[in-house]
Parts: sequence; C-alpha cells; structure tokens
Amino acid sequence: MRDVDERTITDAVIRAMADGGDERLRSVLAALVRHLHDFAREVELTPAEWMAAIGFLTRTGHKSSDTRQEFILLSDTLGLSSLVDLIAGRGGEAATEASNLGPFYIEGAPMLPVGGDLIRGNEGQPGVVRGRVLDEAGKPVAGVTLDIWQNAANGFYSNEDPDQDDMNLRCRMVTGADGAYAFTTIRPTPYTVPYDGPVGEMLRATGRHAWRPAHLHFRLAADGFADLVTEIFPEDDRYVDEDAVFGVRRSLAVPFPPADKATAARWKLSPPCFDLVYDFRLRRA
Ligand SMILES: [Fe+2]
Repeated sequence: MRDVDERTITDAVIRAMADGGDERLRSVLAALVRHLHDFAREVELTPAEWMAAIGFLTRTGHKSSDTRQEFILLSDTLGLSSLVDLIAGRGGEAATEASNLGPFYIEGAPMLPVGGDLIRGNEGQPGVVRGRVLDEAGKPVAGVTLDIWQNAANGFYSNEDPDQDDMNLRCRMVTGADGAYAFTTIRPTPYTVPYDGPVGEMLRATGRHAWRPAHLHFRLAADGFADLVTEIFPEDDRYVDEDAVFGVRRSLAVPFPPADKATAARWKLSPPCFDLVYDFRLRRA
C-alpha cells in the first residue's frame, strides 16, 4: 500500500480492517473512516487544526471523572445524544418520545406512594404532576416503576449542591391497576450545563450559551416494555427553543397550567400553583 494519495487512502484504511473482528464493528468503523476522511478533505483540515482538535479531545478526557462526564456533555451539545435517541425511537411513534438521561440521575431514589409529596422544605412554585402510564393502544399499565428527578429553585440538582439532602426532589413510584402516577413538587428551573471545561470553550467559541430549559426527568421501567428515559418541559420556558443539548421535542413541551381551586385544595397547594397532567405511553419490548 505504497500508492497512497489523498483519494486512495480511505479505501486503504478500510481494506486494512476487512478481515478480522466483529462484522458490525467493522462496518461502523469503515463508515466512520469514510466520513472522517471526507470531512478532512471537505474542510481541507490543516495540521494546526488537527493538533488543536487532538488537544481539545485530550482536555475533554482529562476533565472527565467519576462525577463529571465531559464526553457525554460534548455528545449532548453536538446533538449526537439526541440523534441516537431519535434513531432508536424509529417505528415507535405511538409511544412517548425519549430524551436525554443527563448527568444527574442517581439510582436508588426513595419510594414514594402515588400521590406523595416531593416539596417538603423546597422553595419554588408548588404544583401537582399527574397522569397515567399507558401502552401504545391506550390501556393503563400496572407495575411501572417511575424514577423522577429534578432540580431545586437555585437551579442545582441534589448531587451538585452540598446544601441539599442527597435525595432531595427525587423519588420512585409504582403504578397500580389504573396506571396512575401523581406527586406534588415545585416547578423546575432552567440551568446551565457545566461550562468550565473544554465543552464550555467550544460553546463560547461558537457564540452559544449553556442554558437548558426547565424540565422534569423521568425514567420508566416495566416488564414487557422498553425502558423509557425522557424529560417534560414547560412550553413557555424562555429556553425551550434553544436547549444547549437539543433535548426538547414538540410532544414533550407542554403547558404547566394554573391549578383550579378544587385541584389546589385537593392537593393542599396554595396558589399560585400549577397542575401538570401528562400521560406516558410505553412501547412493548
Ligand atoms: Fe436535567
């Protein structure tokens, strides 16, 4: 393979890995090499730019740790995480759309009965979040475990804020025969993704901000159904059309309307308070 030039080098690399290993791995890597080479030819990548990219990726690795995943943040801010979710959701259009898991999920949140309270001592606008978990045909699904987490009024999740209890604004809840879930909580707030690392450099260099619109995180799991990881956004959030990680979908941005008097009284909420009603639809496994 000494007849390597700007054009033949792509096939030379793909041929070099044609004989061994896993077939899926080879086809994914071959496509990666083709796109990477086409990209370098298209932008006429210079040695200095190539070195800058190596430095950027090296800093991204150094910034990552057990508690900080700068590569996932890079994938999120480049839209790749959402694109992977969208591809995985093909063919499941009757089910609730997926969205980012994000870096703030913690396993083992405390169990809360359906109708329980997450507000406790938290400041913020109170409200109730309620609805049902359905299958794609609209029938209630019993025995679904919902994992629910959100940030506090100061914008922080419990695991990034020493002033919050470890499991503040987090719970798990299991649906009964009617598929219903419900809990009282506070309205989540917009926040910035971490921008003190290389991803922050990229955002600044491209004139982007680090804000995400407010959202509630949900992870739903039930026997016989595909796991669903998603987020629900208030449709009037100022960042709903400019999420730094591209997690918003039209079907996931919904009104957080004011609760009427009877609802506020039933849930022991003092106005102004919201009443978010949202039904999830799970896809069969
Ligand atoms: Fe989040």
